[in-house]
Amino acid sequence: MRFSSSLTSLLALISITTARSPAPHARGEGIIRVPLTRKSEAAARVDLSTLKAHLIGVSNKYHQTFAAFEANTGAAHPLSGRMVSSTTKRDNGIPLTNQLSTLWYGEIGVGIPEQKFSVAIDTGSSDLFLPSVLCHESCQGHRKYNATQSSTSNNESESITLTFRGGATVVGEEYSDVISIGGYEATNQSFVAASEYSYHFSGASFLPDGLVGLAFKQISVLKKPTIFETLSDSGVLPKKMFSVKLSSKSGESELYIGGTNAGLYVEDTLTYTAVTNESHWQVNLETVTRNGSTVSSNAASIIDTGTTVIIASDDEAEAYFKDIPGSGKIKNGRITYYTIPCETIGTYAPTFTFGSRAFKVSEDAFNFGGESDGSNNCVASIASLSNVDFWIIGDVFLRNVYTVFDMSEGSARVGFAELV
Ligand SMILES: *[C@@H]1O[C@H](CO)[C@@H](O)[C@H](O)[C@H]1NC(C)=O
Ligand SMILES: *[C@@H]1O[C@H](CO)[C@@H](O)[C@H](O)[C@H]1NC(C)=O
Ligand SMILES: *[C@@H]1O[C@H](CO)[C@@H](O)[C@H](O)[C@H]1NC(C)=O
Ligand SMILES: *[C@@H]1O[C@H](CO)[C@@H](O)[C@H](O)[C@H]1NC(C)=O
Ligand SMILES: *[C@@H]1O[C@H](CO)[C@@H](O)[C@H](O)[C@H]1NC(C)=O
Repeated sequence: MRFSSSLTSLLALISITTARSPAPHARGEGIIRVPLTRKSEAAARVDLSTLKAHLIGVSNKYHQTFAAFEANTGAAHPLSGRMVSSTTKRDNGIPLTNQLSTLWYGEIGVGIPEQKFSVAIDTGSSDLFLPSVLCHESCQGHRKYNATQSSTSNNESESITLTFRGGATVVGEEYSDVISIGGYEATNQSFVAASEYSYHFSGASFLPDGLVGLAFKQISVLKKPTIFETLSDSGVLPKKMFSVKLSSKSGESELYIGGTNAGLYVEDTLTYTAVTNESHWQVNLETVTRNGSTVSSNAASIIDTGTTVIIASDDEAEAYFKDIPGSGKIKNGRITYYTIPCETIGTYAPTFTFGSRAFKVSEDAFNFGGESDGSNNCVASIASLSNVDFWIIGDVFLRNVYTVFDMSEGSARVGFAELV
């Protein structure tokens, strides 16, 4: 059986060790290399329970960020229709993160002198949290922020409990301090210094020390600018943009602050699409095609480095997999996965069009691996959630392109380009 590289990298995460390569970035270079460790031996099948945990985490994240949007702006988020309407409307929460969404992480420095941390890079949320020295057993395995050692630290005297669904919590204080990322310094950057992590974030289950959200302040639970907005507002960036290359090849992934890394993409393929609501990196998904036929057009989509797969509504996913010979469907609560015979799944990899340019998902990325040991059916990396009616474009797509998150023009936009 052939092992897809997406499956390999997916599973690599689960058994990842403590390898934390320091970011080899020089001041002013504007680069964070995001290290990705891979397990050497391939696994033959997808771990559906881990995938399910990830999808529930993603669903919760959108629930919470929409609730924060409403708390911050007083208006319901336009995409929140099926999500916020129910139960807990104003959870003071940010996304539940699990192993699958820690795929991309890099180093930041906090305070003077600098204390280093690794953080998950999440374009689908807008808060930053780290463990503090007040956090004991529950933050084991993580580096901890010691505010009294930083001459620039500022206790905002605001106690914060971030409540995640599924019981995960981060309890702490709001601090502000100088934070360096990719060679730039954000002064007076707000974040949560946690005195308690629930076990979901312990070193054993959450690889980086903390998480940095890189969407818009409209969905910040702290109601504060993200580190990228702080840098943009202070005028230190050559360009108000950051870019990512996410690669399943070890050592090739990076976040680039303040511009694009021209060596990594084919310049004349860079195509921009306007952000339709500045809360998430939300853009119009022009078309989704399968083997040349259009199966969806003009759908709302959110570009999210913190999501592994591609998520659609039930209807859109249904339309995508319709009439594929031998395809099957596994429903598990709100989540539906689809399977296609392993022999043919590659031919059904989707093409997404943004800003009139078509970008194809590789066959490997579309195939998450066998449904079970020895199965001839493979799980596709487009899944559906019954409480979303938009697309969430995660790294299954983002690994195929160079992505630019641009706030330089007054109104925000997302650019995609072919990789070199
Ligand atoms: C974003 O959503 C809010 C809430 O629905 C709405 O008031 C605002 O006009 C939207 N912005 C754009 C640019 O559509
Ligand atoms: C934090 O730093 C202060 C000042 O250097 C030191 O006294 C204290 O022991 C440190 N706390 C921890 C838990 O390391
Ligand atoms: C920060 O301020 C809060 C609220 O005033 C206080 O409870 C906490 O002890 C302070 N943290 C430190 C490390 O002094
Ligand atoms: C730092 O930010 C806080 C709120 O985030 C604000 O109250 C404070 O005035 C700021 N301090 C400086 C020196 O800009
Ligand atoms: C893809 O489209 C081509 C041309 O329309 C067709 O010949 C082929 O059978 C299709 N392949 C699949 C797997 O549907």
